Parts: sequence; structure tokens; C-alpha cells
Amino acid sequence: MSPQPKLHLLFHRDEIDATVRKLAAQIKQDYHHKSPLLIGILKGSFMFMADLIRHLDFPLEVDFIRLSSYGSGRESSGRVKVVQGLRSSIKGRHILIIEDIVDTGTTAAFLIDYLQKKKPASLRLCALTDKPSRRQVPVTIDFLGFTVPDKFIVGYGIDWDEQFRYLPDICTLEGDL
Ligand code: PRP
Repeated sequence: MSPQPKLHLLFHRDEIDATVRKLAAQIKQDYHHKSPLLIGILKGSFMFMADLIRHLDFPLEVDFIRLSSYGSGRESSGRVKVVQGLRSSIKGRHILIIEDIVDTGTTAAFLIDYLQKKKPASLRLCALTDKPSRRQVPVTIDFLGFTVPDKFIVGYGIDWDEQFRYLPDICTLEGDL
């Protein structure tokens, strides 16, 4: 059996909780009267979305789109595929994309372009984490939780080769990957 990579704590669950509450307060201020549609990018955003909307006590709708930009392992393929599409109509609506991590920016940029063509009233991006050192495609993040170092991170929905999504904390992976 190959050795498992080591996990190092980056953001404890309490720090994540405080940050999610802070983001929710900012989102509430801007969207409480707009009945927005929050679109989570699967799979990575599922835990963040679930926690975030618990703090948004105003009318909103939720949908998910499943996109895939990574091949197996940790390197991006650079291509984005819609694996599972949206059911909601976008035209004329206030849309907020919910993303777990913006890395190269490929996935977020693809979705922004994809949704913009459907003529929303507004379109913004909320990302729990941002890894600016890896950016290849420019992306504006309107609501940001954490900036992360150029290390592979896992937990709180974020995977490495489908592992570690279940962790309640966000950790870096160290060692031979
Ligand atoms: C991960 C992550 C983001 C995307 C970010 O998704 O959840 O959606 O990569 O990378 P990028 O900025 O380089 O495009 P992934 O495609 O691994 O699918 P997953 O959400 O199912 O883990």
C-alpha cells in the first residue's frame, strides 16, 4: 500500500465557522431584498453551501451545477465539463456563485461566462478560499473567506483524488503526493 500523505491543520473548524458567518453577513447586506439564486459548484462546495445558507435568513433559492476541471489526482486538466446542469432559469435573476476554491480560475471563469450568456440581472462570485499564486485565468472574487498558500488543501468539501472531503477542518497535504 502506498504511504498516505500527512495532513497539517490550516484552518480549524471554529475559524471556518467564523469566516462563513462573516461572509453570510456581507451577502445578507447586499442580497436580502433581491431573492437571489445561489449556485453551488459541485462537488467541492457542498459543505460550504450548507453552512452558509443556514446563516442567510431571507428569501433565496439554491441550485447546483456539477463541473469538472481536474483529472485524477491534483493537476487540473485545464478543460471544464458540465457534468450535471442547472434546472433553474437564470435570465433576469440575481445570481451568486458559491465556490470552495479558486485555483487556476478556469472553473469559475468558465461558469461566469456560461451564466453571463443567460442574461442574469447580476452575477457575482463567493469563494471560501483563493489560491492566487496558481491563477492562470483572471477572476474577480466578490466575497472571499481565506487566501491560501500554494499547497494542496483538503477538507470541508475539498478533495484530493476524492479523498478527505469529510474533514471538518481545512488542512494542507504534505509529503510525497
Ligand atoms: C475543484 C474545486 C473548484 C475547482 C478550482 O473542483 O472544487 O471547483 O477545482 O480549480 P480551478 O480554479 O483550477 O478551476 P474539481 O474540478 O476538482 O471537482 P470537485 O469540486 O468535484 O472536487
